[in-house]
Amino acid sequence: MHVVMINGSPRIEKYSNTDKIISSFGKGLLERGASFERYAISERRSWDAIREAYIKNEEILIALPLFVECVPGLLLEFLETLPKKDDRTRLSFILQSGFAEGSQLRCGERFLEKLPEYLGVCYGGCLVKGDNFGIRLLDAAGQEKATKPYRAMGALFAEGDGFFRTEAKKFTGPEYFPLPLRVLMQMVFKTIAKKRFQQAAASWGCDTPLDAKAWE
Ligand SMILES: Cc1cc2nc3c(=O)[nH]c(=O)nc-3n(C[C@H](O)[C@H](O)[C@H](O)COP(=O)(O)O)c2cc1C
Repeated sequence: MHVVMINGSPRIEKYSNTDKIISSFGKGLLERGASFERYAISERRSWDAIREAYIKNEEILIALPLFVECVPGLLLEFLETLPKKDDRTRLSFILQSGFAEGSQLRCGERFLEKLPEYLGVCYGGCLVKGDNFGIRLLDAAGQEKATKPYRAMGALFAEGDGFFRTEAKKFTGPEYFPLPLRVLMQMVFKTIAKKRFQQAAASWGCDTPLDAKAWE
């Protein structure tokens, strides 16, 4: 199996969490004798090369971050440049996000489920997982540890069943956190986190409250 992996984040690769996830997933592919080539849409100059790879290959995997509950705008713009192909091509997705509950990625997943049909290709499933805010802030060892679970998913994908196996479904983790944890998190976000966000904004020159409703 040869996989074309496309990073669908607008963030440049050096700072992209998706980039680190792709690296780990790629190790899993190699472990099982598969090969891959990788691209990133953040580099607009490479769009022609990415499109060419999409056209020439039959196993395509787009890894993307959740942006405001759905797909980053830059990725949509790139997708609009792709030609229609036939169902010999399989399109799969890795959808990853900051917040950890699986439930909040489901809207994005529903969109991705429909996308292959628009492009005329078949759907290889979507690997869904959150809790990835901090990957890019870790040192190399920390990044390796945080993304290690994706390596196992790369090895699983190389077996050919896309992301339809039970292991891939379980990979998401909890759909919702237990109620006491949700209450605790709400309290943290309304107090400590709110203060920290305001401080960070102030350090960037923002002097209005972050919850100001300018439209009122
Ligand atoms: C503009 C923007 C919107 C985001 N929206 C969400 C969101 O709705 N839910 C979520 O869990 N994470 C959200 N995130 C967090 C990213 O999904 C997360 O940090 C991801 O790992 C970023 O991957 P990247 O560095 O490859 O872009 C958002 C991040 C940005 C910059």
